[in-house]
Amino acid sequence: MFARYAFARSHVPLTTPSARIAAFNRVTTTMRHFSTAKKPPTAVLLTNMGGPETLDDVHDFLLNLFSDRDIMKLPLQKHLAKYIANRRTPSIKEQYAQIGGGSPILAWTQKQGEAMEKILDKISPETAPHKHYIAFRYVKPSTDMALEEMKKDGVQRAVVFTQYPQYSCSTTGSSLNELHRGIVRAGMEDLDWSIIDRWPKHPGFIEAVAKRIEAKLQEYPAEERDNAVILFSAHSLPMSVVNRGDTYPSEVAHTVHQVMERLGQKYQYRLVWQSQVGPQPWLGPQTSDAIKGYGEAGKKNLLLVPIAFTTDHIETLFELDLEYGKEAEEAGITGFKRAESLNDDPTFVQAMADIVKEHLQEGGIVSKQWYLRCPGCTFDSCGTTREFFASKEK
Ligand code: FES
Repeated sequence: MFARYAFARSHVPLTTPSARIAAFNRVTTTMRHFSTAKKPPTAVLLTNMGGPETLDDVHDFLLNLFSDRDIMKLPLQKHLAKYIANRRTPSIKEQYAQIGGGSPILAWTQKQGEAMEKILDKISPETAPHKHYIAFRYVKPSTDMALEEMKKDGVQRAVVFTQYPQYSCSTTGSSLNELHRGIVRAGMEDLDWSIIDRWPKHPGFIEAVAKRIEAKLQEYPAEERDNAVILFSAHSLPMSVVNRGDTYPSEVAHTVHQVMERLGQKYQYRLVWQSQVGPQPWLGPQTSDAIKGYGEAGKKNLLLVPIAFTTDHIETLFELDLEYGKEAEEAGITGFKRAESLNDDPTFVQAMADIVKEHLQEGGIVSKQWYLRCPGCTFDSCGTTREFFASKEK
């Protein structure tokens, strides 16, 4: 009916093929505009810390990370953050150079987002069209950039979807605090906001991880497969954060338990923690120490599984593959392997779409657990962010 209306308004005689094509093009353009104007997309805002895309981005990434007062409060933070970033930039640049010159997080997140949108449009037509936006905490596209794009698209319904399956105040919590500040800066308080703040045991996610493990286990000779030790490796946390009451360690453990249940508890395994920096105590055992320990104990086949991040990043491509790979070799582990990251795995992107669909259907604002602050929380921002989203509860 709208096409007929548009043709009726045309002043071009439609007697020649070129006139008809020109008219058709005008109509389809107008229809696209009309449909966008009529129904803005349901936004799915993918949040993550992000990573430097090029070597030139490394310094600013580190500076933004160490300046983040939602995860650490340092004396004279502005100056100290600059000092630490300057000091660490050369060695971190070298690590990124060894994995191809930058972080692949943005490229993978875009692929995941596009695949998720397509599935969502099919399985949730009532909330279509869907469009993903990306908000990284320490690099571009920033939260402000994502919000600006959403504003341009006329978004009215927005689902914030953390890309960390397990919640930590150091990751998802920091992104949400920054998002709240960004929403206020952009004057977007009136949007219909809700949050998927954690999904450590979603069956689709568990299935995707289990399949990655099974695929890698197949690479061991059949007679050795059942004796392989699985090391689930997650980014560690300073013990000060753990003791503050962060839920991340228990949620990562929950994921591991679910994956092992799915695998029929057929393999020996441990949950270990990587990426400790600095002199303060961190949650252990450290992945590196576990590799050395099992090497000394005579284990030959170790399968590392990244369990707390859904795309490749420096902690998988450099730390697990290169750094720990070398340590494993030195420890006499001949069957050292690493399960592939989820990246654009079809089972995983289907899970992403299912998680969003289920959230839209349930109609909640955020998990009940998120409203309970850590018993040791001293950050005002954690309180104001919760107050804002609580005001969205009906
Ligand atoms: Fe956990 Fe603030 S640090 S709620």
